Amino acid sequence: MEAKDLQPLGQNEPIVEPDENENAQKQSWTKPPPDPESNSESDADSDEASINSYETHQLDIYEENNRRYPNDSYHMPNDEPERTRLNIVHQIYLILLDGHLTAAPIVTNAPRVLDIGTGPGDWAIEMSHAYPHGTIIASDIGVFDNALGHVDLPNLSFHLDDARDEWAYDIPFDLIHLRGLSGAFPDWSFIYQQAFDHLAPGGYLEVADTDFAAETMISLPPNSYLRLFASALRSADYSAGYLRDLSHLQPALFHAQGFIDIDVREYTFPIGLWPESPHDRTVGKMGLIALLEGLESYSLRALTTTYGWVAEEVRELCDQVRAEILQGVYRISARVKIVTGRKPLT
Ligand SMILES: C[S@@+](CC[C@H](N)C(=O)[O-])C[C@H]1O[C@@H](n2cnc3c(N)ncnc32)[C@H](O)[C@@H]1O
Repeated sequence: MEAKDLQPLGQNEPIVEPDENENAQKQSWTKPPPDPESNSESDADSDEASINSYETHQLDIYEENNRRYPNDSYHMPNDEPERTRLNIVHQIYLILLDGHLTAAPIVTNAPRVLDIGTGPGDWAIEMSHAYPHGTIIASDIGVFDNALGHVDLPNLSFHLDDARDEWAYDIPFDLIHLRGLSGAFPDWSFIYQQAFDHLAPGGYLEVADTDFAAETMISLPPNSYLRLFASALRSADYSAGYLRDLSHLQPALFHAQGFIDIDVREYTFPIGLWPESPHDRTVGKMGLIALLEGLESYSLRALTTTYGWVAEEVRELCDQVRAEILQGVYRISARVKIVTGRKPLT
């Protein structure tokens, strides 16, 4: 699919030539040296002893079309605009869960928790505050500026790791959490199997995701820019083999790895100022900001690498989608699904 194929409302958009300056650049990053006064590793267990191994490595940072990415393939950036979006989405999850951080029961006040793909780490940081006697391990393929990976908390450790590889933890967890990882893995069964293996008997896996396109695709007319944007992204993800929908959240996939007591929660939240109730309107405003902030994040790498669009074409489409959303003509909403499953005691 090419940008010129997207011509809703009878418009014929010019194709912009690639900008030489927008070529990808790879830079390196290293964690600042640890504070010698800090004794945050004093209570480290064997897993945590290997944590922060990235301090000894140079971590590549990929600058591409004025966005920063954690590696050469993951579709979402890990820069300041993306951090802002994730901060807002984190708050939306808290509202949906009535202020709770997780839908999984936690029966100990000192849980061992693993947060895969932690991003800026809002969830892991709040878990570390909620369970000061717990051990929270957060991992990611990359590090956001000024976020987790730079923050020192006594019971929270950051581990630079790619969850597509075998997980290397010696001590099992009470809760393994993945949120917003849709599109990160080509094979979710591998992730669920690794999680099962690294849970303690009775421990929980929780996987949560938001699909901003699920409801949108149903309700929008075929000639809307937003619908065309969502379809272009869907087919780009499909071509790349990294689906960004909610298809990994099927209870059968949890069952297949041995999980029991599977619980599925589904929510729809509004995007925009159209809801009448003050509560929904607040969530709608937050959803609107997250979606507007996310348009470029979702699409820039996917459409430039998969379909060969130039960045300017993607940005033009994002502008058109943004203008359409802000007209407020369509009542759009997003779908959230949270699935939890328990590892049997025996
Ligand atoms: C959309 S963000 C969600 C961040 C966080 N879980 C939240 O809910 O705010 C996805 C995160 O997953 C990380 N990620 C992507 N692929 C990964 C992989 N293969 N292994 C570990 N983390 C990955 C990204 O670097 C990014 O920080």
